[in-house]
Amino acid sequence: MLRAEGLVKTYRAPDGGPIPVLKGIDLKVAAGELVVILGASGSGKSTLLNLLGLLEDPDAGGVWFGGERVNVLGRSARSRARGRFVGFVFQSFLLLPSLTALENVLLAARYAGRAGPTTRQRALALLDELGVLERRDHYPPQISGGEQQRVAFCRAVLNDPPLLLADEPTGNLDDANARVILESLRARARAGAAVVVVGHRPEAAEGASAVFRLQNGALA
Ligand SMILES: Nc1ncnc2c1ncn2[C@@H]1O[C@H](COP(=O)(O)OP(=O)(O)O)[C@@H](O)[C@H]1O
Ligand SMILES: [Mg+2]
Repeated sequence: MLRAEGLVKTYRAPDGGPIPVLKGIDLKVAAGELVVILGASGSGKSTLLNLLGLLEDPDAGGVWFGGERVNVLGRSARSRARGRFVGFVFQSFLLLPSLTALENVLLAARYAGRAGPTTRQRALALLDELGVLERRDHYPPQISGGEQQRVAFCRAVLNDPPLLLADEPTGNLDDANARVILESLRARARAGAAVVVVGHRPEAAEGASAVFRLQNGALA
């Protein structure tokens, strides 16, 4: 489902000096697999996920979705590929402040042209599963970080994406809510999704098909 080869990314410091973050990452994730990548803060986890989700361009290397090399596509073909394949759980949630929790969850379905009554029912069921149903009509600034994280998770999974990329999806949650999200990610892998989770909590590794450590720009 997902393949990455030789991904390299170097940022520039304010003084122009290089910050080498990824030094040649290879990764393969098949449908039904849950891959966990652990790494310290600043090790490049978000950078890697952004490259895998086509949100940023690598300096070198390639990304393939289902056999198609996607990182070289033009802007609109790339966003179509992203819409078709990827559910992205952002570390910083990225909920739109002018939309309610429910409207935020429905956003992905709206982009995919699938916003009907059935989708609305599924969105409500997801919010319920994640314990934030009673927040459906609240705006993001009115709810806690942990609640925003759960709403953002619902948005990412609503379309049942074949590839799910989750950036510290339990970073703001207590243990009980973290377990709900991790169990949901595992269930999605069992149902056939390719799932990549990055984080620093070793609990995320439970039930994973493979666990890697990101260190010094390389996966081990
Ligand atoms: N846009 C950017 N410009 C310059 N440096 C960046 C940029 N984004 C990330 N970095 C640097 O790259 C390194 C990895 O960042 P990140 O991928 O966010 O790490 P993690 O998610 O593991 O905490 C950090 O040292 C960070 O400061
Ligand atoms: Mg990060």
